[in-house]
Amino acid sequence: MTSIALTSAPVTTLDVDALIVGITDEGKKHVEGPPALPDDVRVSLEKALEALGANGKLGEITRVPGTGLVKARMIVAVGLGDVRILDLEKVRRTVGAALRSLAGTKSVGIVVTSPDGPRVEAIAMGALLGNYAFHAFRGASASSQQAPVLKILITGAPKNKEQSAALDRAVVIAEAVNYARDLVNTPPSALPPEEIAQQAIEAVGKLPVRVEVWDEDALARDEFGGILAVGQGSANPPRLIRLEYSPKGAKKTVALVGKGVTFDSGGLSLKPPKAMETMKCDMSGAAAVIAAVTALARMKAKVNVIGWIPTVENMPGGHAQRPGDVITIYGGRTVEVLNTDAEGRLILADALVAASEEQPDLIVDAATLTGAQIIALGDRTSGIMSNDDDLQAAIYETAKRAGETMWHMPIPEESRGTLDSPIADIKNIGDGKGGMLSAAAFLREFVPEGQPWAHLDIAGPAFNEGGPYGYTPKGGTGAAVRTFIQVAEDVAQGQLP
Ligand code: BES
Ligand code: ZN
Ligand code: ZN
Repeated sequence: MTSIALTSAPVTTLDVDALIVGITDEGKKHVEGPPALPDDVRVSLEKALEALGANGKLGEITRVPGTGLVKARMIVAVGLGDVRILDLEKVRRTVGAALRSLAGTKSVGIVVTSPDGPRVEAIAMGALLGNYAFHAFRGASASSQQAPVLKILITGAPKNKEQSAALDRAVVIAEAVNYARDLVNTPPSALPPEEIAQQAIEAVGKLPVRVEVWDEDALARDEFGGILAVGQGSANPPRLIRLEYSPKGAKKTVALVGKGVTFDSGGLSLKPPKAMETMKCDMSGAAAVIAAVTALARMKAKVNVIGWIPTVENMPGGHAQRPGDVITIYGGRTVEVLNTDAEGRLILADALVAASEEQPDLIVDAATLTGAQIIALGDRTSGIMSNDDDLQAAIYETAKRAGETMWHMPIPEESRGTLDSPIADIKNIGDGKGGMLSAAAFLREFVPEGQPWAHLDIAGPAFNEGGPYGYTPKGGTGAAVRTFIQVAEDVAQGQLP
């Protein structure tokens, strides 16, 4: 476990292996901000950087020996680019990349040059997210892995209440994101629906969060037909999980819903092998709900938070649902299932109806719902859809503040039209065009009119198949965790819906 703390120890004598300092690209390879480094050290460092050809452009990382300058063995100069346009997300990304580049180093100091709370929070967040590694399933190769940095000290910021609160907040949120990443990275054999439920119970631990789990009998009794239909093709039975955090005095309620398909083979509408390789990530929405509810309880947020997690394994076993089957979603609507690979919407439909019954102030769901999301927005931008345009715009702002890239997508009337079934209330696939939008149109059918609801399609952003960048590792990213937390906080503040 990595420790992180603020220190008032002088930068020059700080006892760490590496010292991270920000440099800007304004002409003279300026070491950013005056107060933290003594003038003579700063001037010498700038000379060394100049000799090495460092130019301070955003994301650049240059190592300089600490000898003669500071006690730390090395100084790692990270380029911040033009500081006049330096936003907090750039800080998070730069610090994240710097920390990852230091894997294998034991202790790291980070010099803060603009010592306000948001900057400290961004630095800590970037550091903890960038420092993430997942080695739980390595055997013989475990010992050859570079361990994450063990100790992070933030220096140069005053150790007052504002800074400490900023640091605490960053720690809770980053731990939540990293926890979600762990769940996503865990192989699907180790994380069937029953184990997701177990994880939820363990994650909330002694926190004031109530956990309720529907097993297959309870699901049948209460007629959760979507979850049962998708789950029936697997030897691992489905579950529905409800988490409730209701602190004293909270006036508003937000429901967070997450798709929890522990493995998506496609079912009888089987996916090709390549497309299946990453399908352990199909429970990323579920991971985000568990992580966010846990974090909000740890932060003692003043808002009621209800987490809903329908979780299944989508498999083509002998009892699997067939294309052509008609199933009945919780609440009574019927769905003609023409493609068993469009399973997320079936289990989410059950959960959205259940969540709506309690009439929360806002429902937000997150789901790795469609490949079409990746075609439309790429793999770093999630889609936001909603039954209310103003809410959609507000969620965009909330996500951005939380550091997550998302973009507004419509639910056009014609996409609902393509879902008309000749024999049931609705069918589960459209005409193949605008697949992200018709999936949202399907979900919207299960949210009553007047119930504020937003849907986040995180299919691409949930899992990074490419190399690591900024604070984002390869594999599970923890997408939607920070947005969920920020959404709940905004609801608490009356800023949402
Ligand atoms: N889990 C997939 C969506 C997905 C694709 C997530 C790639 C992450 C990366 C989802 O269940 C699915 O298979 N959707 C189908 C729907 C189609 C059959 C209407 C899709 O997008 O192809
Ligand atoms: Zn699918
Ligand atoms: Zn899926």
